[in-house]
Amino acid sequence: MTTVLRVDVQAPAKVNLFLHVGDRRPDGFHDLQSLVVFTRTGDELSFAPAEGLRLAIEGPFANALTPDPDNLVLKAARALAAHAGVQEGAHIVLTKNLPVASGIGGGSADAAAALRGLAKLWKLNLPHNVLHKIGETLGSDVPVCVECNSAWMEGRGENVTELSGIPKVPIVLVNPGVAVPTGKVFAALKERRGVGLPRPPKMQNAADLVAYLKTTSNDLQAPARGIAPVIGEVLDALAAQPGALLSRMSGSGATCFALFTDMVTAANAADSFRGIRRDWWIVETQTIARLP
Ligand code: C5P
Repeated sequence: MTTVLRVDVQAPAKVNLFLHVGDRRPDGFHDLQSLVVFTRTGDELSFAPAEGLRLAIEGPFANALTPDPDNLVLKAARALAAHAGVQEGAHIVLTKNLPVASGIGGGSADAAAALRGLAKLWKLNLPHNVLHKIGETLGSDVPVCVECNSAWMEGRGENVTELSGIPKVPIVLVNPGVAVPTGKVFAALKERRGVGLPRPPKMQNAADLVAYLKTTSNDLQAPARGIAPVIGEVLDALAAQPGALLSRMSGSGATCFALFTDMVTAANAADSFRGIRRDWWIVETQTIARLP
């Protein structure tokens, strides 16, 4: 039997292209509907055999996290080990490229990547629906991050259906450096669209996608702006960029995005943004249909 020496896994940023919220359920979570896509930008994780579970964090946002047992990556590792009755450990290195608590799934994507990576390192051969189930116990966004496919998300986030035919689009992500706790944003929610929307029609190109998205919203945007008014500044600045087709907040914020027709226009927008706001996190990237 060959020994797996190291497993490298991507944890791409998740973007909620729209997010509609329904009723609060008896379990305290809200029903929602969301069109979720992933991007080329993300965190990176590597897994190597070791005694016990150890986590090291590096990268531009490493200082925002501590590798303590509460870290979602270690929680995911323990949940998977418990489920599969695994005795082995792992040395995990998380390269934190994404801002934390920022509405683009950082922690959820890392937890989901830990499930995928450790299942491979430990040769567990588990179907992804089992990883989904374990993911559900870790957070509402973890199941969708297990596959990292463009997806239609419902329930509290656990009902995930892959959507084919969502056009790949250039996207600029901007985070103003304020962390907005998800629970607080949901608690401040007033207006909401509810969850009666049918799945999106077939789309040929970015223009179709944008036309569709203009009929939708992110219901969490208004309450998040109330908590962190700088989100309004980010949205106004994104909307003012030449070539911006649509600008909106992702998840519960504070990261906002704008979609563009081509990468050059997206890169120009990101560059002009960087010229003005050196303290904001600004990235031009592209959405992906699935993990490479
Ligand atoms: O599942 P997650 O840890 O992301 O949720 C954080 C908080 O966000 C929950 O405790 C809940 O207050 C709120 N939430 C919600 N409905 C959802 C997802 C999250 O009310 N569908």
